[in-house]
Amino acid sequence: MAIAESSTKVVLGGTRGGPDVATLRKDRWWIQPVITVSVLTAFVIYSTWAAFQNKYYYVGANVHRDLVSPFYSPCLASDCIPGSKAGFAFNGWTLSPALIILIFPLGFRLTCYYYRRSYYRAFWWSPPACAVSDAHASYSGETRFPLIMQNLHRYFFFAGLIFNVLLTYDALRAFRQPGLGWGVTIGTIVLVVNATLLWLYSLSCHACRHLCGGQVKSFSEHPLRYRFWKFLTPLNAKHMNFAWASLVFVALTDVYVRLVASGAISDYKLF
Ligand code: FES
Repeated sequence: MAIAESSTKVVLGGTRGGPDVATLRKDRWWIQPVITVSVLTAFVIYSTWAAFQNKYYYVGANVHRDLVSPFYSPCLASDCIPGSKAGFAFNGWTLSPALIILIFPLGFRLTCYYYRRSYYRAFWWSPPACAVSDAHASYSGETRFPLIMQNLHRYFFFAGLIFNVLLTYDALRAFRQPGLGWGVTIGTIVLVVNATLLWLYSLSCHACRHLCGGQVKSFSEHPLRYRFWKFLTPLNAKHMNFAWASLVFVALTDVYVRLVASGAISDYKLF
């Protein structure tokens, strides 16, 4: 039986030398950029709103709980809700305490190699997908301001680790039920899952993997670094999954604490 052959004529001369059409793809390549724009936009709107609220971010001893929103931890303003305060405070800070710390988790996410790929594609259309025409005629990469700032990612990675330690501490504190002793509530589980996802996101980071195994000429001479690298490599392969899961869950954690703190729901005690 003869196999029908078909060919598509490609005329070069489009943006940056590609075909003179937007794309030859027939599949729904646009779904991924649309999802990326929708989720990131929703997150930015919600987190900005939550950061400016400056209330309902802590559930305290009055209801036998110790739950703090990750958007407000560590709480470094002198007027933080009692119980949520970190050891150190910026006296005279009158805005929301969330604004003091926002730059670090935000900087870590914004400069993440995976998110860069996603938002360059979805928002800049540079290009929007594989084999789809770039929306821009030229490309300067990350060699100029402001995109050269993306090189700060490795430093934000260390800041992210500090936040992971603090949020892990918050999760452990959530087992404490002032006036009742120790136990587990839905809030405890929410904070533990949030801290775990943030650790997985950080440990699967490309900069983290490079720190452990990069620039090593012979693994046999660096057995410890080799072990770390072996441990991190499968996590690194799932970095995209951890990026989205931790982003969505950190917002859900704030929603949960906010609902309990405002009295809309109560934090159910499991044992
Ligand atoms: S590459 Fe995504 S957090 Fe480092």
